[in-house]
Amino acid sequence: MGHAVSYEDDGTPEEQTRRKFMANSVVVLGGVIGLVLAVPLAASLIPGADAAKANASPLTDDEYKQLQTATDKPIKVTFLKKNKDGYLPESADEQFVWAVKTDEAKLKAARPALFAGEEKLPYPVINMGFVLFSPICPHLGCRFNWSEDLKKFACPCHGSQFTNLGEHTAGPALRGLDPLPLEEKSGKAEITWITYKNNEPGHIVLSYS
Ligand code: FES
Repeated sequence: MGHAVSYEDDGTPEEQTRRKFMANSVVVLGGVIGLVLAVPLAASLIPGADAAKANASPLTDDEYKQLQTATDKPIKVTFLKKNKDGYLPESADEQFVWAVKTDEAKLKAARPALFAGEEKLPYPVINMGFVLFSPICPHLGCRFNWSEDLKKFACPCHGSQFTNLGEHTAGPALRGLDPLPLEEKSGKAEITWITYKNNEPGHIVLSYS
């Protein structure tokens, strides 16, 4: 007469081995699926080149004329900043950057870390003979101004100061001013806005808006 198999019955050694194999397979398969889903998700959270391209703002003729008046004395260039964030409708708001006419030799001499140090950026920091600086102080994000008296950029919040080429000379900021990409596209100049993380010695992208 056969006997009933209780739920506590561990089964034969072969059955136990098969069950262990199945359980391990499920864990491994789950891990692989998790990884396949997680990699693109993580990548989508890191601001990338596509987001930068989508938010590049072309300058109008008048805005470009402002840029061309820059000398080694910085000038403000106001422009309509394009905001394209995922599937949200595109919007625009007025922004400004600081423009300085310079060349690579001068910028390299003043800011070597921008070319070969911890402030290095993955795009040309000079284009068309200009460097553009984000107006956001790299200390804690206030807006600084150009002081004709000091011949420096001076931040009103905690006293950081920077030369016309953005070299940090005083105050608590941990890096110099942040150059933004300027590109020539189909005869137009385009500015890409980038928000970098404050209070870090290097450049960590937070967003393109
Ligand atoms: Fe500019 Fe602190 S925010 S010095």
